[in-house]
Amino acid sequence: MTVPRPAAASPEPPRPWALLAELTHACPLHCPYCSNPLELARRSAELTAAEWADVLRQAADLGVVHTHLSGGEPLLRPDLERIVAAAEGAGVYTQLVTSGTGLDEDRLSALRAAGLRSVQLSVQHAEAAANDRIAGRPSSFAAKERAAALVRRAGLPLGLNVVLHRDNLDTVGALVELGESWGVDRIELANTQFYGWGLLNRAALLPTREQLARARETVEHHRERLAGRVELVWVVPDYFDGIAKPCMGGWGAVSLTVTPDGTALPCPAAASLPDLDPPNVRDRPLDWIWDRSPAFARYRGTAWMTGPCGTCPRREEDFGGCRCQAYALTGDAARTDPACALSPDHHVVRALTDPDAGVTPPLYVHRRPGAVPQVR
Ligand code: SF4
Ligand code: FES
Repeated sequence: MTVPRPAAASPEPPRPWALLAELTHACPLHCPYCSNPLELARRSAELTAAEWADVLRQAADLGVVHTHLSGGEPLLRPDLERIVAAAEGAGVYTQLVTSGTGLDEDRLSALRAAGLRSVQLSVQHAEAAANDRIAGRPSSFAAKERAAALVRRAGLPLGLNVVLHRDNLDTVGALVELGESWGVDRIELANTQFYGWGLLNRAALLPTREQLARARETVEHHRERLAGRVELVWVVPDYFDGIAKPCMGGWGAVSLTVTPDGTALPCPAAASLPDLDPPNVRDRPLDWIWDRSPAFARYRGTAWMTGPCGTCPRREEDFGGCRCQAYALTGDAARTDPACALSPDHHVVRALTDPDAGVTPPLYVHRRPGAVPQVR
C-alpha cells in the first residue's frame, strides 16, 4: 500500500457547511443498496439526544448551517424532536431523511413544532409491489404515500430520493411522474454508489450501459418539461463515464459525517478504510476533529496525491475522485480513483461495467445482519 504524504501544512482548513448526522443504523427497510457499513452500530452505543445537541452546537460554531438527520431510519429515535430542537436552537437548518415508515400526523406536527425545516423521502420504485420487494418490507410504499401527503399538508418542502440500479432504472420516467403527483419540490435520482451493503451487492445492482443511456434521455426530457417547477437532480454513475466524481466536494473540505456511535468521518463510507483511525465526538471537540485530526487531514487538498492525479489539471476540480472507492477497488485509498480513465487501475472498472456477454447477474440480498450475497 502506498503511504500517503501528509497534507501540506495549512494554517486554516476550509470551513464545513454541512453535517450528515446518522442518528441510528436501525431501519425498518432492508434495501440491498444501503451504504451503511456491514457492521452496524449497536443501539446501545448511540449518542444520546444531549450528546447530539452538543455536537450540533459545536458544528454551528464551526460554520455548519445545514444538517441531514439520517440513518438508518431517524424516526426510530423517540428523542428525534429534541435533536431537531437543538439544531434549530443552534441555527442549523434541518432536513429529515426518512423512508416515511412511522411518520404520522402527530409525529410530524411535533417535529415541525421543534423546528424541522424540510423532508426528503426515499422511494424504491414507482409501483407499490416492486417498491416493497426492493425495500424488503410489505406496505412500505403505502407508508411513503401517506408520509408525502402529510408533509405537503404541513407545508414543508418535500424532496424525493431514489437510488437507481438495474432493478428500477428502466422506470425512471414513472418515478419522476410519481414525485410530480406527490407534489414534491425536488427529485434526486442517485445512481447507486457502491459502499457498504451496496458494494456487496454490486454485481446484482450494476445497470447495463443501454439502461443508463435510456434513463439519461428520459431524465433530460423530464428536466425540460419540469423546468421551474420541480428540480431534477441526476447523480452520475461514475463507473461508466471514465470521469471521477468530486466525492464530498473534497475530503475534509465542505462536510462531515457523525455516525450513530459518535465516530466523526470525512465521508459516510470512510469507516471502511482500515487504517484511518477516525476520532469520536465523545473523546474530542469537533473543532479539533475538523482542524487537527490526522483522519481529516489525510486526504485534504492535493499534496497527498499519487499517480496521475499529482500533476493532473483536473485535480482541483475532482480531488482525485473517491478515496473509499479507490480503496474498495485497489486496496489503497491513496491511488487515483479507478473510475477515472487516466487511472492505471481503470481496467478494474471496465471489467465490471462491460461483463462477458450472456453472463446473468446474481440476485441481490437484502440488508440483514448475516446476509451473504452471491459473488459474480
Ligand atoms: Fe481527476 Fe486524478 Fe483522474 Fe486527473 S487523474 S481526472 S485528478 S482522478
Ligand atoms: Fe469516502 Fe468518497 S465515499 S471519499
